[in-house]
Amino acid sequence: MGMVSVKNLKKDYGNFTAVDDISFEINKGEIFGFLGPNGAGKTSTINMIIGLSRPTAGEIAVDGIDVKSQTKKAQAIMGIVPDESNLYNEMDGFENLCFSASLYGMRKEEREPRARQLLKQFRLNDAGKRPFKAYSKGMRRKLTIAAALIHSPRVLFLDEPTTGIDVESSRQIREMIVELKKQGTTIFLTTHYIEEAERICDRIAFIAKGQIVASGTLPQLMESVTHDYAIRFVTDKNSESFSIELQSRFKTSEVTAQSDNSLIMSSEQRIPLFPVMEFFHKKEIEVYEARELRPSLEDVFVKLTGIESSALKKDKEKGGFR
Ligand SMILES: Nc1ncnc2c1ncn2[C@@H]1O[C@H](COP(=O)(O)OP(=O)(O)O)[C@@H](O)[C@H]1O
Ligand SMILES: [Mg+2]
Repeated sequence: MGMVSVKNLKKDYGNFTAVDDISFEINKGEIFGFLGPNGAGKTSTINMIIGLSRPTAGEIAVDGIDVKSQTKKAQAIMGIVPDESNLYNEMDGFENLCFSASLYGMRKEEREPRARQLLKQFRLNDAGKRPFKAYSKGMRRKLTIAAALIHSPRVLFLDEPTTGIDVESSRQIREMIVELKKQGTTIFLTTHYIEEAERICDRIAFIAKGQIVASGTLPQLMESVTHDYAIRFVTDKNSESFSIELQSRFKTSEVTAQSDNSLIMSSEQRIPLFPVMEFFHKKEIEVYEARELRPSLEDVFVKLTGIESSALKKDKEKGGFR
């Protein structure tokens, strides 16, 4: 059995179903990502798994422990990073970490060295003595993660760990997550950043309208589009002037003229280049570039969910992912 096992999980708010019969397993030591737009049901799902909200129906086990009947026992092996910080504004970083440690019943001799070690690891040394309320958003998120790790949990749950924070803190957090995985921690995270899921997750589940639409490793997810082929041609003529003729000549492809003298031919079969080049040659059209367009995880998401990819990118930080 997996480290996290979720079966037929459901959450209703009144007569609205936010999580609709979700099942999945997270293997020990992997990073499993829930990728979906705002309102998909990510937070509702994670809150049930960590024992903060009661499922309407379904079963949840974490390392074999039933979360509904043995909530405290299950929580003892979990690290929890909520979407909003749960730390104290008036306490400084060191005090917040020591306080979290006491909540997990750690002894004083253990607490302080562990707090110092985490402050150093998260590059928050200098901020250790400032009150939490004086922290930047990125620092707040990092301290929240540090607090979740205080008792060295076997499974870490992160709800949108890099949403709404600066690029550098996001990068550090992603590095930290990958490092934790290397040390054997099992990780469940939610995100609405495609690149983030693609970059760090071993397996990804697409969640939309409370349901898992698809899940698997990146290569498994890509399977559904690897049989779509597309080539972009850049020419010296306005492509609208010959695209109709090209389309009628190559009926198994779909020809789309672009405004910048380029056009895209797409097909479910591979597109032989020579006949196309011959067509261009006869029409005295110069071809400067012919490039294969590879499908992205974004294409898979759009294809499988029918949701515009812009729904996943709304507040993507400037500068993108590094
Ligand atoms: N406490 C609540 N009461 C009523 N509706 C809720 C509550 N929490 C979430 N919802 C609704 O459930 C849906 C899923 O929300 P949520 O789990 O927060 O999604 P996500 O985290 O993917 O953005 C949304 O339509 C949201 O408005
Ligand atoms: Mg959420």
